[in-house]
Amino acid sequence: MAGWWFILLWALDPSFANAGVINLAKRTVLSDLSGGFCRSYRFGADIANNVLYTVGLDGGLIPDDGDASNNYLMTLDLTSSFSTSEGKNYKMTKIGAEVPKIKDMALWSNAENSTLYQYGGRFLENITSEDTIWTYTVKDKSWTKQDGTIQPSRLEYGVYTNAPAIQAGFWIGGYRASGTTSSITDSTKEYATGMIQLNTTTGQYTSLDGPYEAVEEGSLSYVPVGDRGILVYIGGDVPSIKDEINATMNSNSWNHVQVYDIAGAKWYNQSTTGTVASRTQFCASVQQEKSSFSYQIFVLGGADLKSKDTILDVNYLSIPSFKWYSAVPLDDPRMTLTCVTYGRQIFGIGGRRAWAEDGKAGCYDAPAFIYDAQSEATRSSFDPALSSFSLSSSTASDIKASASPSQWADPALRTLFGKSEATINTSANNETSSTSEPQEVNTSDPAIRGAIAGGVAGGVAGLALIIGLLWFFIATNKKQKNAILAEAEVVTRQVQPMSELPVGARDGRSELGGDTYMYSELPVDSKRDIPELDSERNRQVISHQGI
Ligand SMILES: *[C@@H]1O[C@H](CO)[C@@H](O)[C@H](O)[C@H]1NC(C)=O
Ligand SMILES: *[C@@H]1O[C@H](CO)[C@@H](O)[C@H](O)[C@H]1NC(C)=O
Ligand SMILES: *[C@@H]1O[C@H](CO)[C@@H](O)[C@H](O)[C@H]1NC(C)=O
Ligand SMILES: *[C@@H]1O[C@H](CO)[C@@H](O)[C@H](O)[C@H]1NC(C)=O
Ligand SMILES: *[C@@H]1O[C@H](CO)[C@@H](O)[C@H](O)[C@H]1NC(C)=O
Ligand SMILES: *[C@@H]1O[C@H](CO)[C@@H](O)[C@H](O)[C@H]1NC(C)=O
Ligand SMILES: *[C@@H]1O[C@H](CO)[C@@H](O)[C@H](O)[C@H]1NC(C)=O
Ligand SMILES: *[C@@H]1O[C@H](CO)[C@@H](O)[C@H](O)[C@H]1NC(C)=O
Repeated sequence: MAGWWFILLWALDPSFANAGVINLAKRTVLSDLSGGFCRSYRFGADIANNVLYTVGLDGGLIPDDGDASNNYLMTLDLTSSFSTSEGKNYKMTKIGAEVPKIKDMALWSNAENSTLYQYGGRFLENITSEDTIWTYTVKDKSWTKQDGTIQPSRLEYGVYTNAPAIQAGFWIGGYRASGTTSSITDSTKEYATGMIQLNTTTGQYTSLDGPYEAVEEGSLSYVPVGDRGILVYIGGDVPSIKDEINATMNSNSWNHVQVYDIAGAKWYNQSTTGTVASRTQFCASVQQEKSSFSYQIFVLGGADLKSKDTILDVNYLSIPSFKWYSAVPLDDPRMTLTCVTYGRQIFGIGGRRAWAEDGKAGCYDAPAFIYDAQSEATRSSFDPALSSFSLSSSTASDIKASASPSQWADPALRTLFGKSEATINTSANNETSSTSEPQEVNTSDPAIRGAIAGGVAGGVAGLALIIGLLWFFIATNKKQKNAILAEAEVVTRQVQPMSELPVGARDGRSELGGDTYMYSELPVDSKRDIPELDSERNRQVISHQGI
């Protein structure tokens, strides 16, 4: 059917041939998504200078491209209103072939909004520049390898957050596997124990304590209370036996959250009240309400780890009451998505409609949707003027009645939420002084440089490799103590749940091959006007996913 249309159009109007894409066919590099979209998971995303940047998009599942070797930077301009379903609003720039194609990475902007750091994630093709961190310079729109610093090993399936207020980005959890390193060729996962902090001004990485010996997924949020702010880690899935191929996965209970005091370098295990269903592969967004001095962490999307059913429920954890509330659910299922917050508007980006790795993961029209945290509804358009968030009156009166949890994990944690945040003293100071100091590696110190790089001829690349080993040396030491982490669970992970055809897992192609999209030879406009072609095309997309 589709082929017939193609021939007909060719016969009727050969001028189409000169007008556009026909001769470029499979190698068309797109400048926007006006020709449609199917899906992509999972993006790295961040907002800098009112531009929403997303990385991790290849052309394989984009109808007008269809070539998985095209790697795109996608941007949304947040200075004016736009419809999230209009493909033309998603601006695309092809990233040079020297930058490896990766999915599931962190994207951190620095406080000045001049640089984006891309850390972690899994390779979709041959593994090149294994632990290298790439940075994007906004001014010249260029990608470069980050040099001169000691860098952590590449991890996948961790979670991250950006804290521009303290010039830092954080990453928790995940592991090294065949998608991140060529040294692993089977289904082994080497879990990371700690947390990674990037100073986005100096470019320096620090290894900090993490909340779990081994964890993946979950969500990490920055909440600006206390001296330097806190991190709140929600959920997460832990393996029954660390680094064991046949480990079963278990969701952490959602009646506790892990809170990290950044200034005190200490984790607290804080209980929560209220009702919420545990889930995995969701995303989180922090909403501050100024009048009640409260912060709400919204969780969107995801799926139940055991049943694999998607979860539409939207919930939020109000802090400091540490109580869960329900908001109006999402209209459509979405898991394995990324959240980016602009005031009360939460962008849900990428992901899949169902827990599947083939066409059953579904298609959707555009990469992003917006959930308005205040009206608790999905918005069809972005409005830059909609900024401040306020609570519903019922939640507002509820948290007024119980502004703090009935039981604090520690008096020191309560102190962080004290009225005058600058005068944290007494027990807090005393306790924190006894916690382990972060292990910062001073790369400008010639002695340290020499010690680490000694005997390595490869300069900076060698340096990065060695700290990679060092990082995992630390993790491995801890592992010995705590090899068995949880009772065996019913969830067996036979395949990696989210691999969108990573290297090693399949045939090395990231999404669909170029041949799938014979329709890319049609000019965009003619396609959009032909409903049969559109539905035919969608069927085609789905039927080719099972490769
Ligand atoms: C950086 O970008 C963010 C998001 O658009 C903005 O809130 C912030 O003010 C910007 N910072 C600077 C220094 O321009
Ligand atoms: C991956 O490596 C193989 C074998 O070295 C090579 O033939 C192939 O071209 C590489 N693919 C890419 C995309 O670089
Ligand atoms: C990052 O480095 C800057 C400049 O040295 C410093 O002011 C800032 O406090 C550092 N941030 C963190 C989280 O350490
Ligand atoms: C994992 O399970 C498979 C199938 O039950 C078994 O053949 C294999 O030996 C197990 N591997 C390990 C490392 O326990
Ligand atoms: C947090 O506390 C609960 C209740 O004591 C416990 O079951 C859970 O294992 C703790 N979590 C961590 C990460 O310590
Ligand atoms: C801080 O704690 C010390 C020792 O507990 C006490 O002497 C001092 O008065 C406290 N300072 C403030 C500002 O509360
Ligand atoms: C700090 O705590 C230790 C033990 O918990 C106690 O012996 C010491 O007196 C405390 N110091 C201060 C200044 O409160
Ligand atoms: C790092 O080392 C350099 C050179 O020894 C020194 O000047 C600098 O103060 C050190 N920085 C930190 C944070 O220790």
